Amino acid sequence: MVFDFKINDKEKKYLQIYSQLKNMIYSKMLAPDSKLPSTRELSSLICVSRNSIMSAYELLEQEGLIYSIRNKGSYVKKLVADENKECSWIIPWEIKTTAYAKIAEKTDIIKNESVYKKGMISFKTIAPDENLFPIEEVKKSVLNILSNEGEKILNYGYAKGYDKLINFLLSYMTSKGVDTTNKSILITNGFTEGFDLTLSTILNKGDKILCENPTHNTALKIMKLQGLDIIGVDMTADGIDITQLSDKIKNNKVKAGFFVPSYHNPTGLVMSYDKRNLLYTIMKENNIPIIEDGFNEELQLKSDHISPLAAISNNDNSVIYIGSLSKILFPGLRIGWILGDKKLINAMESIKRSKNIHTSSLDQAILYDYLKNGNFEKYLKKIRTVYNEKFNLAIKLAKEYIPHQYITGDGGLYIFIKLKNIDARKLLSKCIDKGVIFTPGDIFYTQSIDTLHSTSSLVGWDTLRLGFSRLTLCDIEKGVKIIGHECLTL
Ligand SMILES: Cc1ncc(COP(=O)(O)O)c(C=O)c1O
Repeated sequence: MVFDFKINDKEKKYLQIYSQLKNMIYSKMLAPDSKLPSTRELSSLICVSRNSIMSAYELLEQEGLIYSIRNKGSYVKKLVADENKECSWIIPWEIKTTAYAKIAEKTDIIKNESVYKKGMISFKTIAPDENLFPIEEVKKSVLNILSNEGEKILNYGYAKGYDKLINFLLSYMTSKGVDTTNKSILITNGFTEGFDLTLSTILNKGDKILCENPTHNTALKIMKLQGLDIIGVDMTADGIDITQLSDKIKNNKVKAGFFVPSYHNPTGLVMSYDKRNLLYTIMKENNIPIIEDGFNEELQLKSDHISPLAAISNNDNSVIYIGSLSKILFPGLRIGWILGDKKLINAMESIKRSKNIHTSSLDQAILYDYLKNGNFEKYLKKIRTVYNEKFNLAIKLAKEYIPHQYITGDGGLYIFIKLKNIDARKLLSKCIDKGVIFTPGDIFYTQSIDTLHSTSSLVGWDTLRLGFSRLTLCDIEKGVKIIGHECLTL
């Protein structure tokens, strides 16, 4: 109870009441403008004479801590910040936060990199173009779900995910050539949570993990936050360097490998069928499980799309496939999935439950309803045409205007450029002055995460990623020409 006064017989009662009320006001236990009990009420509540209460209130009023309104009663005054000083309790959180929080902040590129300002031509984002989203169909799905599933969908769901979506995705994975016997699916909050969960389930702090170098910056951050020893394998203009991969496996006790075979971020490369087979064979021979990031597979800009590594593995259980439609459809829904061995998914389910119980059932159900209505293929056709046009234009202009050693990209939403002896960060700051922004390539390299983005001797200093998914053709042209022009000034 708030008015739980401790009154002794040694000191004057009104002074004790005064000082205890004062403490309550300073510690905000009594909110500004809240009404104090009447003197009569408080007197009977704490068994102290009404006179003592009146004297205590008078003293508080003299000090400006309370005010009274005629015929209404006494009220707590709002404290001016300084008045609270003597009892302030300030913890220097910037020092007290954990090593985990410090790494998260240091590697948070949204906070630490140049930001987009309204009116700029931004090659920074690789998010899908929301103007392409089939919003009318989504509206129908929202209504369908709310009418058909009613209140149930708004109650707690299952950690593994919404059953109908899981079954849909199992058949979807089968259609990609994946054998789903003895495998199951866990729905996650996008790839990001799926990857974090996977690492927490199969690796311990200090374990070595292989990945392409460069690779997805968020993946690097998650590996770093989990305390893993990240072993990068160089990417050439032709994709991952297989000889180096074998050497690194020979020289390190590697526990897992993380790969993005389709429209790899940031290089935009699609790994060839032969390379996929070779990679799979090497990992199998060395008994190193594969974590495959299947994001962006749906883009399939070239018709000869290649099956995921998960398909090569047939009914083996060594590939953990993480799927996400984030670059295609509704990243704001934050839905992804992990397909893997049943027992492994079972363990992940418990971790997921302990972290966030489950991914929003309503969101999963809406996505399911939209996907099952069969319009997804139609939508994919439409976006492939649009993104293909942007890609073709971006790569053609980049080759023409930007001095480069090589430019990679097999389609998708971005291209990667190794400049001709030009510092990408210097170029970036010049371009920002001209209203154009892009992502400097160094943030995708394992070395940058190892040194927590210190700017000295940055690997990838001469590289950059141009994302064009949300730009008009006209802005792509304008932007690439500006970048090209600024290159000439360096
Ligand atoms: C390599 C890679 N995987 C997956 C994703 C999607 O992540 P999420 O599903 O968490 O949005 C991205 C997004 O940029 C990515 O670059």
